[in-house]
Amino acid sequence: MRHLVRSRSELQKQVAELVEQRAAISEVLRAVANSPHDLQPIFDTILINATRLCGATYGGLLLFEEKGYRSVARRGPVNPVYAERWPLGLVEPIGPGDPVARLIESGSPVHIADLAADQAYLRRDPRIVALVELAGVRTCLLVPLLKNNELIGALGINREQVQPFTDRQIDLVTDFAAQTTIALESTRRERQYREAQMALAHANRIATMGQLSASISHEVNQPITAAVTYALAARRWLSAEPPDLGEVSEALDLIIKEGNRASDVIGRIRGLIKKAPPRKDVVFINDAILEVVALTRAEAANNDVLVRTQLAPGLPPVQGDRVQLQQVMVNLIVNAVQAMSGTGEGAHELKISIDAVPFESGVRVGVRDTGPGLSPESLSRLFEPFYTTKPEGMGMGLSICRSIIEAHSGRLWAIPCEPHGALFQFTIPAT
Ligand SMILES: Nc1ncnc2c1ncn2[C@@H]1O[C@H](COP(=O)(O)OP(=O)(O)OP(=O)(O)O)[C@@H](O)[C@H]1O
Ligand SMILES: [Mg+2]
Repeated sequence: MRHLVRSRSELQKQVAELVEQRAAISEVLRAVANSPHDLQPIFDTILINATRLCGATYGGLLLFEEKGYRSVARRGPVNPVYAERWPLGLVEPIGPGDPVARLIESGSPVHIADLAADQAYLRRDPRIVALVELAGVRTCLLVPLLKNNELIGALGINREQVQPFTDRQIDLVTDFAAQTTIALESTRRERQYREAQMALAHANRIATMGQLSASISHEVNQPITAAVTYALAARRWLSAEPPDLGEVSEALDLIIKEGNRASDVIGRIRGLIKKAPPRKDVVFINDAILEVVALTRAEAANNDVLVRTQLAPGLPPVQGDRVQLQQVMVNLIVNAVQAMSGTGEGAHELKISIDAVPFESGVRVGVRDTGPGLSPESLSRLFEPFYTTKPEGMGMGLSICRSIIEAHSGRLWAIPCEPHGALFQFTIPAT
């Protein structure tokens, strides 16, 4: 009977342990999912859980580099003198016989029951001496981090007292090491993906600006032409008998104004072309739309397309990257102009209507055209990368637009219109 009671409580203990381990593993996975760009919170969660579940005093994570290894995270009451001598981020060379060297050699966990009895300590290896005498490490366990069988680092846990880890604890740290590798890999992929996205978005901006070259030169030329006209007038007022200095001064004011206008236009275009990391600005969507419309108006006019805007006053500002949101608008407008330029003249009025209205707590923007509209095939493939029906198209415009809008926590979709035309709408939540 007593035996049964004991085995039952033993079982209960095991179940409790397993539940705790499972909770720890899901906590780590959550940290991986919640922090796609920053590894530090993931490392911290792993070390907190690994040390707690294995009854360890300290934990540490190191990654191998060409010249040695770098400590990237630490957990536990580290002695300040030790922390100052071996700060996080420092690259340490690997000495022969060092526990890390043994890990590299064997590719399997290194478990040292008492570091103070280890050859490296007895040899007075300065770092091992510091680990024992300053950091107070006695039992130590180092588990390899393996990526496709390649050793990339190690996860270590240590105890202040001499008390070897159980096989179960070693297995558990091995699991945590596997999760660390997954986190490292997924952050690296995420970073690569973001870099590729940024490069593509930039290429798309430049390509779209190229398509707008007629519009852009018109936008820049207009103030310059106006300034020249005012300058000619000023010269006439100056050579009049007597010279009319009042008029000259007024003309000069206008020249200054036009000069500033030209430089504003160039500044805006430069902003759209320049490669810059995404920002979180407060964006007044109506202003952003009006700027884009000014930039695309001549392009539309060249194609006999009329652009109309209907922007609700007092829309809440949204938070995001103004240039990227303008890039979405430019892409949608250019697509609309291109769709209509192929429809043949006189069939019907060619018109782009842009509206912005309140939506939930944010805004909804729509770009509608009176072009040929969307076939069922194109409707299902519009947002696919490289889907294009244009001889010169890259097919990246809408796919980039969608990723920009989704990065702003919004949505972008397309609706076919009756009797013809397409409507693209996107939402952006308010700040
Ligand atoms: N307003 C529209 N009306 C009809 N079809 C459209 C409209 N906008 C997009 N499309 C269709 O969707 C396709 C994909 O558009 P997307 O902007 O992604 O690429 P693209 O315009 O072909 O090339 P680019 O990379 O230069 O933008 C277009 O080729 C076209 O067939
Ligand atoms: Mg396009």
